[in-house]
Amino acid sequence: MKEQLAKIRADALSAFENVKDAAALDELRVRYLGKKGELTAVLKQMGRLSAEERPAMGALANEVRAALENALDSASQKIEQAALELKLKAETVDVTIPGRQVQMGCRHPMNTALDEFKEIFIGMGFTVLDGPEIELAELNFDRLNAEEGHPSRDWSDTFYFDTDERVMLRSQTSPMQVRAMDSMELPIRMIAPGRVYRKDEVDATHSPMFHQVEGMVIDRGVTMADLKGTLTTVAQKIYGSNTKTRFRPHHFPFTEPSCEMDVQCHKCDGAGCATCKGEGWIELLGAGMIHPRVLEMAGIDPEEWSGWAFGFGLDRLAMLRYKIDDLRLIFENDVRFLEQF
Ligand code: PHE
Repeated sequence: MKEQLAKIRADALSAFENVKDAAALDELRVRYLGKKGELTAVLKQMGRLSAEERPAMGALANEVRAALENALDSASQKIEQAALELKLKAETVDVTIPGRQVQMGCRHPMNTALDEFKEIFIGMGFTVLDGPEIELAELNFDRLNAEEGHPSRDWSDTFYFDTDERVMLRSQTSPMQVRAMDSMELPIRMIAPGRVYRKDEVDATHSPMFHQVEGMVIDRGVTMADLKGTLTTVAQKIYGSNTKTRFRPHHFPFTEPSCEMDVQCHKCDGAGCATCKGEGWIELLGAGMIHPRVLEMAGIDPEEWSGWAFGFGLDRLAMLRYKIDDLRLIFENDVRFLEQF
């Protein structure tokens, strides 16, 4: 038994001495000191010893256990220390490396154009509204007097979410007119910029997603003269005080009368050039007097109140403003392009 204990001690100490990692150390601990370990196995034989032999052997066994536990402790400390050193080495930071330069970005040209536009309208007492891009067809069409069967409601033009054609990606910002009528106190002066979606193929002037700004005024005694005066003032603030505007008759289901507004080409002063494709004028927006039926559907008495509204493509405005000839450049977010603004 004495020899057994001596052998365990020698084996264990040398094993603890050479162990390399925590998992292996734990295996050794179980093997030598565990409940079913070698030392316990020897101690279980103590019963067979005579009463005289037992104390000395007990003392020896305890001594061996203490030695083993000591060795286990120091082995475990050694392993921890080694792991820590390895970790510190891996995490060294070279504080002498120069810092990375922060690259300042710039505003997207479309946002700059939008900010200018908002400033002009805020200065005239308009509120800026934000609304959902996922819209009810009821607001995008029905409440805007575009009846069932209206061509713009067709599947080939509109992104619907359901076969019932009730939920859609808004195809215009005009449902914001309805939302404003439903939620704001009269009189109303608001603009509402945002994304709109139509099933268009992508080319230099078309994209299935583009940006519009809606505008609406409802008050007592509002006439077409207010529409023309306000929109001409806005065009002059954007393109210069000599800018001429032209209003052509048009049709929208939710305005009557309806019109489109052109601005005289700021590049050729109406003579005709590449920018205006030889026309001398550039089409800027659709507008009109709010249809009495639209007011009625919102619970507004068209005998007492009247209003006008407009909607235009913000991307186009930014393109004109910054002389960008391809719409795709606005959406691609190529830094080499955006850096120029
Ligand atoms: N919503 C129309 C369009 O997308 C524009 C418009 C807005 C026309 C408001 C009149 C009044 O073409």
